[in-house]
Amino acid sequence: MKAMPQSFATGPHIITPLPGPNARRIIAEDERYMSPSYTRCYPLVVKRGRGAVVEDVDGNEFLDFSAGIAVASTGHCHPEVVAAVQRQAAELMHMSGTDFYYEQMPALARRLSQLAPMPGPHRFFYGNSGTEAIECAIKLARYHTRRQHIIAFFGGFHGRTMGALSLTASRTKQRQRFGPFVPGVTHVPYPNLYRDMYRGRLSGPEEEKAFALGCARFIEETLFRSTLPPEEVAAIVLEPIQGEGGFVVAPTNFLQEIRRICDRHGILMIVDEVQSGAGRTGKWWAIEHSGVQPDVVAIAKGIASGMPLGICMSRAEIMCWEPGSHGSTFGGNPVSLAAALATLDIVEREGLGNAEAVGNHMMERMKTWPEKQRMVGDVRGRGLMIGVEIVRDRESRTAAGPERDSIVSLAFERGLLCLGAGESAIRLTPPLIVSKEQADIAMDILEECIRAVEK
Ligand SMILES: Cc1ncc(COP(=O)(O)O)c(C=O)c1O
Repeated sequence: MKAMPQSFATGPHIITPLPGPNARRIIAEDERYMSPSYTRCYPLVVKRGRGAVVEDVDGNEFLDFSAGIAVASTGHCHPEVVAAVQRQAAELMHMSGTDFYYEQMPALARRLSQLAPMPGPHRFFYGNSGTEAIECAIKLARYHTRRQHIIAFFGGFHGRTMGALSLTASRTKQRQRFGPFVPGVTHVPYPNLYRDMYRGRLSGPEEEKAFALGCARFIEETLFRSTLPPEEVAAIVLEPIQGEGGFVVAPTNFLQEIRRICDRHGILMIVDEVQSGAGRTGKWWAIEHSGVQPDVVAIAKGIASGMPLGICMSRAEIMCWEPGSHGSTFGGNPVSLAAALATLDIVEREGLGNAEAVGNHMMERMKTWPEKQRMVGDVRGRGLMIGVEIVRDRESRTAAGPERDSIVSLAFERGLLCLGAGESAIRLTPPLIVSKEQADIAMDILEECIRAVEK
């Protein structure tokens, strides 16, 4: 491998016009062969990555505040993860845990059981992706409760296979022409405190609390009294922080009320921690910030640092299904499990504390942006899951989607990788090992780009 350039350790270094000549060639070929359904928002062609920096095929280096959509939790190619993957790949790559045993399966489960956001004992099912973790959770909830209906939230994103897609409600585009969906799903409002979906602006903490509580109570007081008998509801599925929906943090009183409703009616509370989990918010699971204990947790993305792994974790008595009810050929393959075990070590040792420290450092500076920058309406999040809401102006709070896209593209041109989320938010999800210095560089670039678009 060629020697690492000096700047690789810290930040961006752009040496060609973007896209460079090699990138242009690869993109042309990609456009010829690949599915047009992918949503590339700028022409980045990645060659390799180390830590929070990726290098493209023309030698340009970017500071990666996307982490491959919140997946490279320990940074790109963390040496311990690479070593674990190499060791395992040389020993056993596949055997299918559905039909055979291997020790990595219970070994990871034992570790995760110690980290679960609800008391044990627990049981685990391994798939390959976030959407599979959700498919498992939906099937499990129906099987265990013998009930059919599922409640999910507007703005929620749970994946793109038909079951998970039936819960997903963040963008019409993701559902258009794919119906009919799995029957029995009802969507209800999620408490977005920046934008009450009916009344717009909330006037202060008291109104915010009432609105959040109202969103949860709508389920009991309206749905359960008018259209949906609670004894037919298997589960309420939610993201403790909506990801694709715009990095919207669920207030604690809302989560507590959902827990109460679930307990009262024998409904399972499923939390989708695919994006918010595995240490991203400075705790292992975002739901822990509320103290609420879920029944089932869906895990993927950052849990194995980029190797494919989706996990459904539940209280043990819930995972009561018979052999043959559910399985997966590749799910929990030994290489992904080895990567997950190494990831847990690194996140425990340095990721959690760093996510909290660098996240607080970023939030401290960025929370001043709404006063300083005309187009920044809101900055929110926890740990290293931070969203910046771009608006036409702060008074109207009108979502500024095209301007958000321009800021994201400009940031790319200046060497910072970030992505959009929801209608008009920018999401920042750097690796959990990112340094304060890198965070400062990223915030400088982003601020400059926002200012440039404001002009
Ligand atoms: C909260 C959440 N759930 C589920 C998924 C689906 O995960 P995957 O793309 O691995 O299927 C995602 C992906 O972005 C997600 O953010």
